[in-house]
Amino acid sequence: MTGTLIQGGRVITATDDYRADVMIENGRVHAIGLDFEPGEDVDVHDASGLLVLPGGVDVHTHLEAEVGPAMTVDTFESGTIAAAFGGTTALVDFAQQPHGGSVIAGLDDWQARASRACVDVGAHMIITTFNDQTLADMKSILRSDGVTSFKMFMVMPGVMMIDDAELYRIMRMTGENGGLSCVHAENGLLIDVLIKEAVAQGRNEVLNHPKVHPASTEGEAAYRAIQISKLAEAPMYVVHVSSQDAVRHIAEARDEGTPVYAETCPHYLFLTEELYDAPDAEAAKYTMIPPLRSKEHQDALWRGLATDDLQIISTDHCPFCLEEKSWGLKYSKALGKESFAQMPNGAPGVETRLPLIYDGGVRTGRMSLNRFVQLNSTTPAKLFGLFPRKGTIAVGSDADIVLFDPEERWTIRAAEHHSRIDYSLFEGREVTGRVKKVFLRGQVIVDGDHWLGRAGGGEYLPRSNSGQV
Ligand code: URP
Ligand code: ZN
Ligand code: ZN
Repeated sequence: MTGTLIQGGRVITATDDYRADVMIENGRVHAIGLDFEPGEDVDVHDASGLLVLPGGVDVHTHLEAEVGPAMTVDTFESGTIAAAFGGTTALVDFAQQPHGGSVIAGLDDWQARASRACVDVGAHMIITTFNDQTLADMKSILRSDGVTSFKMFMVMPGVMMIDDAELYRIMRMTGENGGLSCVHAENGLLIDVLIKEAVAQGRNEVLNHPKVHPASTEGEAAYRAIQISKLAEAPMYVVHVSSQDAVRHIAEARDEGTPVYAETCPHYLFLTEELYDAPDAEAAKYTMIPPLRSKEHQDALWRGLATDDLQIISTDHCPFCLEEKSWGLKYSKALGKESFAQMPNGAPGVETRLPLIYDGGVRTGRMSLNRFVQLNSTTPAKLFGLFPRKGTIAVGSDADIVLFDPEERWTIRAAEHHSRIDYSLFEGREVTGRVKKVFLRGQVIVDGDHWLGRAGGGEYLPRSNSGQV
């Protein structure tokens, strides 16, 4: 077989929408045109009635990742199979500097595990311990290894938190070297006090989780990070924005022309804080940080997407099982059965992003099909140094393509997922729009319910400069 032809579909990019055939050769889009006559040696895929989308690019996942004493349950193999079934063909996952350890060791460790990925993967690096060696190593991986973005936590003092002076020095070096500083914006010192007060008062139920992460602490930290980035004259990116407080500061800064970018996630767009009122066994599903918020905050996120103050939808896929499974307690929310304060924070999502946003965004008229592609594929690829190889359908780009049925109605069920997680945030939700076929660099890896990819079939993605769109 010398080529692959996707015939008769509706090609959607961030800017275009037209009927065409897409010819693939050697893993790349070779030609886009009308009425190609395929030779006998061409593998033809009928896309009539289907949308032909660029593969999703998810720039926020935690696979086989340590989060405090816990460990996310998806391996690079299971997590990337789940991604593929969800129409995502490239991840930028979080490698992590071990606390008190070396950035280089963190990247080596991530590279070894990521070699089993089934879709293409790049790495951001989480910085947990700041010193001169950290800064030198960050510069080295930024320049030589294609790790062109870093995440700093303004929360979890003593475990992950980077202070303001450290943040300034990191942002300055990163900006000077063409990288992007990503921040988890929550005021860690205040949140720590609120958690301790709750526990001291015996308020250990999960319904206390959102109370100790109020929106004001997210807004304050976002504002502070923006001021630091302005001083450092460096671009920055706010991860997993959940509140109108943060959106307001981001919008204000962008209106002034400051290079501040931000993402939100499907759970903040579709779920609200009332879910914490359920019994702990159920409410535990939603212990992520920042937490789910009220409808008012949710409306601000949708407005932020409409005004481009939020430019990306990622998943923050950070899965911990609800129940302890054979692979151990540390992979589960059961670590926190005595108190929400001990519960690992994070939730799954890598497998459902595209259908959820198509159903709840495009079909409801909140966004166009072009904007859908821009938020899920094109801008993530552009902002994180993967474009034009990833994020679009264009001659010369990787043939990472999703055939998507815009009319199929189906029900989200964790039991049918490919992730190792034992629940879905969206269990029982009916959605319209389904991934039918997925091509990774021209190879079919998903065909309906069939998995045709392989562990190690993904490639490492060294990224060029980040923070520029
Ligand atoms: O609760 C969350 N978001 N867990 C994952 C780690 C992070 O902060 O992204
Ligand atoms: Zn975070
Ligand atoms: Zn995360």
